[in-house]
Amino acid sequence: MAEKILQIRNLTTAFLTDQGVAKATDRVTFDLEKGQTLCVVGESGSGKSVTALSVMRLIDYAGGVIMDGEVLFNGEDLVRTSQDDMLRIRGNLITMIFQDPMSALNPVFTVGDQIAEVLRIHRRMKKKAAWQRSVEMLKLVGIPDPEIRAKQFPYEMSGGMCQRVVIAMALACNPELLIADEPTTALDVTVQAQILELLLQLKKELGMSMLLITHDMGVAAEVADRIAVMYAGIVVEEGTVQQIFENSRHPYTIGLLQSIPGMDGKRGGELYTIKGSIPPISKVPSGCRFHPRCPHVMDICRTEEPLLKSSLTGHKTACWLEDKGEFDLKSNKGNNQEANRLTDIRTEATHP
Ligand SMILES: Nc1ncnc2c1ncn2[C@@H]1O[C@H](COP(=O)(O)OP(=O)(O)OP(=O)(O)O)[C@@H](O)[C@H]1O
Ligand code: SF4
Ligand SMILES: [Mg+2]
Repeated sequence: MAEKILQIRNLTTAFLTDQGVAKATDRVTFDLEKGQTLCVVGESGSGKSVTALSVMRLIDYAGGVIMDGEVLFNGEDLVRTSQDDMLRIRGNLITMIFQDPMSALNPVFTVGDQIAEVLRIHRRMKKKAAWQRSVEMLKLVGIPDPEIRAKQFPYEMSGGMCQRVVIAMALACNPELLIADEPTTALDVTVQAQILELLLQLKKELGMSMLLITHDMGVAAEVADRIAVMYAGIVVEEGTVQQIFENSRHPYTIGLLQSIPGMDGKRGGELYTIKGSIPPISKVPSGCRFHPRCPHVMDICRTEEPLLKSSLTGHKTACWLEDKGEFDLKSNKGNNQEANRLTDIRTEATHP
C-alpha cells in the first residue's frame, strides 16, 4: 500500500464569532500519499485555507482553535505537537506558499538575503554557503541572472518573479510536503501557467508531496492526483482526479465542474453557475449544508446530514442521493463532457 505522508482525520477548527463558537472546518478527512498532489477545491469561504493553516498549526496565531481531530504527518500528530516542536517541522519539513507573493516577502531585504535567512535558521548554514545556495535556488526556479537578481529587493521584481522567489524560499530546505494556497491566483494568466508548471516540475525533481489549494477546477485538472471538494467547512466529495471529473456523485462538485471556463486559455474565472452563495460559518444550514442551493434537494436533505461515505464508484461522497441509492445518472449528464475536458486540459497543459 502506498505510504501516506499526511492523514487528516475529523479535523474540526473553530473561531469565536459574535454568534458564538463557529466551526470553519468540520470533521475534515482526507489522505495525501507520498509524492502525490492533492488539490483542495471549493468556493471562497469553504474552509480551504483554515484547513491548511490548521495543518501548519498557524491557525493558533489566527485566533482559531483545533477542537477535534488528527493531522498525522509521517505518523506524528501535529495537533498534539507543541509549538516549539512545530518550529522544527514548519518551514523545514512542511512549507507553505501563500496567494500573495508580496505579503510573504520583506520589502527591506534583498531576495537573496531572505532565502539565505531561511537556510541559516533551519539548516544552520554559514553566511557565504547560505548565499550561494540562495543563488542556486533562484536559478532552480528559473530566474535569469540569479547572481544579479539575488541582490535586488522585491519591489524591483514583477509579481511572477516574486512568486518564484517565494517558491525558492519554500523549497530551499527541501521540504517533504509543500502546501500551496492559491499560489497563482494573484498572477496574470500566462504567468499562472508558468508557475504551475514550475511547481509540478520541482515537485517531481525534489520528490515532494503537494497539497494545493485552488478554487479553479481547471488548475486541479492539470495538477491533481486526488481532489477533495470542500463546501461550508466539510469535505463533500473526495477521489482521484479521474473519479471526480468522470464520475462525480455530488451536485456541488458537478456545479464546480460546469463552471470551468471554456478551453479558450482563460482561467481563474468566478464560479458563476451555482446559484446562491456559501453560508457564513455562524449560519450553517441544517441537514445537508448545500441544500438551499441544490437543484436535487429532497425532504431528508433539509433535516438530516449526509455523511462522507464510499460511493458505488469507489470514491467518497456526502449526498443523500448516493445513500438512498437514488443517484440519477441523468442528473450527471455533463460528465462525459467533463471527462473529455479533463483529457483536453491535461493535453493542453503538457503540449501548450
Ligand atoms: N480569523 C477568523 N475569524 C473568524 N472567521 C474566520 C477567520 N478566518 C476564516 N474565517 C471564516 O472561516 C471560513 C473559511 O475561511 P477560509 O479562509 O478557510 O476559506 P477559503 O476556502 O480559504 O476561501 P478563499 O477561497 O476565499 O480563500 C470563512 O467563512 C471565513 O469567514
Ligand atoms: S444531500 Fe440533498 S441537498 Fe445535499 S447535495 Fe445531495 S441531493 Fe443536494
Ligand atoms: Mg483561502
